[in-house]
Amino acid sequence: MAIHQLSSVLLLMLLAPATSRARDSIAPGEPLAGHDTLVSAGAGDGGGFALGFFTPPGSNDTYVGVWYARVSPRTVVWVANRADPVPGPVDGNAGATLSVSRACELAVADANSTVVWSVSPATTGPCTARIRDDGNLVVTDERGRVAWQGFDHPTDTLLPGMRIGVDFAAGNNMTLTAWKSPSDPSPSSVVVAMDTSGDPEVFLWNGPNKVWRSGPWDGMQFTGVPDTITYKNFSFSFVNSAREVTYSFQVPDASIMSRLVLNSSGGGLVQRWTWVEAAGAWNLYWYAPKDQCDAVSPCGANGVCDTNSLPVCSCLRGFAPRSPAAWALRDGRDGCARETPLGCANGTDGFAVVRHAKAPDTTAATVDYDAGLQLCRRRCLGNCSCTAYANANLSAPPGRRGCVMWTGELEDLRVYPAFGQDLYVRLAAADLDSTSKSKKKTHIIIAVVVSICALAIILALTGMYIWRTKKTKARRQGPSNWSGGLHSRELHSEGNSHGDDLDLPLFDLETIASATNGFSADNKLGEGGFGPVYKGTLEDGQEIAVKTLSKTSVQGLDEFRNEVMLIAKLQHRNLVQLIGYSVCGQEKMLLYEFMENKSLDCFLFDKSKSKLLDWQTRYHIIEGIARGLLYLHQDSRYRIIHRDLKTSNILLDKEMTPKISDFGMARMFGSDDTEINTVRVVGTYGYMAPEYAMDGVFSVKSDVFSFGVIVLEIISGKRNRGVYSYSSHLNLLARAWSSWSEGNSLDLVDKTLNGSFNQEEVLKCLKVGLLCVQENPDDRPLMSQVLLMLASADAASLPDPRKPGFVARRAATEDTSSSRPDCSFVDSMTITMIEGR
Ligand SMILES: *[C@@H]1O[C@H](CO)[C@@H](O)[C@H](O)[C@H]1NC(C)=O
Ligand SMILES: *[C@@H]1O[C@H](CO)[C@@H](O)[C@H](O)[C@H]1NC(C)=O
Ligand SMILES: *[C@@H]1O[C@H](CO)[C@@H](O)[C@H](O)[C@H]1NC(C)=O
Ligand SMILES: *[C@@H]1O[C@H](CO)[C@@H](O)[C@H](O)[C@H]1NC(C)=O
Ligand SMILES: *[C@@H]1O[C@H](CO)[C@@H](O)[C@H](O)[C@H]1NC(C)=O
Ligand SMILES: *[C@@H]1O[C@H](CO)[C@@H](O)[C@H](O)[C@H]1NC(C)=O
Ligand SMILES: *[C@@H]1O[C@H](CO)[C@@H](O)[C@H](O)[C@H]1NC(C)=O
Ligand SMILES: *[C@@H]1O[C@H](CO)[C@@H](O)[C@H](O)[C@H]1NC(C)=O
Repeated sequence: MAIHQLSSVLLLMLLAPATSRARDSIAPGEPLAGHDTLVSAGAGDGGGFALGFFTPPGSNDTYVGVWYARVSPRTVVWVANRADPVPGPVDGNAGATLSVSRACELAVADANSTVVWSVSPATTGPCTARIRDDGNLVVTDERGRVAWQGFDHPTDTLLPGMRIGVDFAAGNNMTLTAWKSPSDPSPSSVVVAMDTSGDPEVFLWNGPNKVWRSGPWDGMQFTGVPDTITYKNFSFSFVNSAREVTYSFQVPDASIMSRLVLNSSGGGLVQRWTWVEAAGAWNLYWYAPKDQCDAVSPCGANGVCDTNSLPVCSCLRGFAPRSPAAWALRDGRDGCARETPLGCANGTDGFAVVRHAKAPDTTAATVDYDAGLQLCRRRCLGNCSCTAYANANLSAPPGRRGCVMWTGELEDLRVYPAFGQDLYVRLAAADLDSTSKSKKKTHIIIAVVVSICALAIILALTGMYIWRTKKTKARRQGPSNWSGGLHSRELHSEGNSHGDDLDLPLFDLETIASATNGFSADNKLGEGGFGPVYKGTLEDGQEIAVKTLSKTSVQGLDEFRNEVMLIAKLQHRNLVQLIGYSVCGQEKMLLYEFMENKSLDCFLFDKSKSKLLDWQTRYHIIEGIARGLLYLHQDSRYRIIHRDLKTSNILLDKEMTPKISDFGMARMFGSDDTEINTVRVVGTYGYMAPEYAMDGVFSVKSDVFSFGVIVLEIISGKRNRGVYSYSSHLNLLARAWSSWSEGNSLDLVDKTLNGSFNQEEVLKCLKVGLLCVQENPDDRPLMSQVLLMLASADAASLPDPRKPGFVARRAATEDTSSSRPDCSFVDSMTITMIEGR
């Protein structure tokens, strides 16, 4: 045996010069030193990891680390002696060695053979240390059993298959600890660890301070990372058993390299990076904390944080701010207090549901994975200290989805526009009643408002009349079935069905009138295609845009409501969010979130403001519009064709995030009503696809055309109609086409950018724009393809566009566009035609 081993060691030593770069393991007597590395066996196929000595840039110390074998620059994912470096750099004379002894001690020693770091698994040697293809440094004993492995001791990086959490059986608490700095791998105070009390969740700590909370695992994802389920190419596992509570992720496709890293910058950031081979760089795929509401409990106890509302903090129903003064200054950390004490002893309490929630802090919650929601509710009612309950495991069949119960205050609650889970908050009967009271109140208000309503209609009619006379020049009149009367039956049914399934609040006219200073001219933001748009401020301070839909719609009240509900369900970062609606006879109104930066055309076509749009911003806007449109076309449950996409319908929020507005309008105004044998073309010249403008044929590809026009406008800073004057025979599309086909593409770029832009991105966008405006709809890409193209590395790999389609300009449209200000809130130049068929 010994002789055999000795000879194999000798053999290895003889072979060493030839095989040293290829070996993946060390055995006793074969230490690793200097610039030697161990390379995992499968590294030849493109993946794999290497282990060796390294000195971080800016450091004078040597460490033993594991890095990707094929990724450059070197990306270290694991460090053995992070707190115990060998003095001196690798290139100097640190003389560090890594060895495994016959007694199975894995040790890092300096030039004087002083051991600076070691592990000694309790087993019998001789042992072998091997770097595996997944990046795991494994020490196996004489029988080939794993005696120790690097994956049980993560440093700052979680690789696929690595776990964080607690392995109770092994007594091992696996955490991530960020490097102190890029030149110092030693552990900083920034730590990610699993909290196993209550319903387990992951916390990001900076010293004693909580920085971020993942929320509990709901069976599919952490409730605080609600978009996880949309991640392709990853699978996630969360084990919650008596033996262990751990989280890990897997990447089934071995060619994809992805890692989760704890970064100490900015007080602690969890980041997921994925390797993009084509770009030769790591791409930031996800990170947390991400926004204001990701901070720990920004709205205090019983407060709800919602980034989609302003201010972001509000109180749960039945609660009021503890320090109204601080809340008025938008500091919600003091939280909210219950308005009516619970009537537990009387058994009169009930629950209000909070949808799309990130579950409150579960550290002190009690969990039963076997109970169902009904049992959960009964248990909560039966325990006077229970304040809320929710499902625990959404991947289990209904009725067995578990039960989390909270006692005391609900800390760190936030809501999302979509995803998240339902949280049931306990309320005293009086606070629950307030809803039904307010329902009754609504009925009374409706009755009272009848008169106000009639008045409003008269006013609206007058306004409409003036507006229409202005507009008649521009279009032939549509069928006018304005009744102007009040349908008490409709109002009645409105009252009845309200609250059944509607999440979207119905506002009464009174509220809207007071929010908009009685629809005062000062509050008017502009004239939309369907009526005027007003700015308003609700009582809680939220700013809104009120869009009046005074134009005749063929719809009845129920249809209208269905349409509104549908639009309200469309929720996406790049769509303007509907926050309520109002019906007053034939007068209908939609309430939207207010966008501080108005619309894209206000920036793009304004000499001074267009300077504020640097290329990076423009590029983000293009991407944002593409995402929003993809969602409308494909990703939402309802396929929506916008049909009037243009720069004035792209609104911009504080951060210049583009938000598409007026989606669903075409649906709401039933433009494909073939009954009266007409085709109503809704759209705006310059943005309308030829087949749509000419023949009234529309499809998602007509939206793609409009998108292409917008892209070209963003690149050039010119309106499509702007260059389409009688003096010039070239419009923007023709100009873009000729500059591209003549190879002077960059001539098209907006001069206000002063030449500072990423050429490759500009060329890519220009090509995408031209592909989108091709004459034949079949040639145009789908929005999903557009997004892929935008994500691709270079313009050269995209197909070459064909000649764009042009829309002949009609003289009649001139009046419409010139009679309105260039930059209004919405819809300034929508043209509606009724064409006999
Ligand atoms: C590393 O060593 C060099 C030479 O001794 C010295 O100039 C430098 O300041 C040292 N750097 C650090 C980070 O200690
Ligand atoms: C090795 O030992 C010598 C002599 O004791 C000492 O001067 C030197 O600093 C030591 N080197 C290291 C890396 O500890
Ligand atoms: C695991 O480590 C973290 C961070 O050091 C600590 O907060 C947590 O309590 C530990 N968990 C267990 C079960 O020891
Ligand atoms: C990621 O997953 C999607 C869908 O499953 C697949 O089409 C795509 O090829 C994957 N990406 C990579 C880089 O493999
Ligand atoms: C830490 O995050 C910053 C900001 O995203 C990034 O620039 C830096 O490369 C990250 N550091 C590491 C080690 O990933
Ligand atoms: C409970 O019922 C008693 C008697 O009916 C009443 O006096 C008391 O106010 C009720 N408490 C609550 C919290 O509703
Ligand atoms: C109520 O729930 C709390 C927390 O789960 C528990 O400690 C307490 O024993 C329960 N009280 C009763 C009466 O069941
Ligand atoms: C959640 O439900 C799934 C499916 O029934 C089950 O496999 C899993 O173990 C459950 N998780 C817990 C923590 O009970």
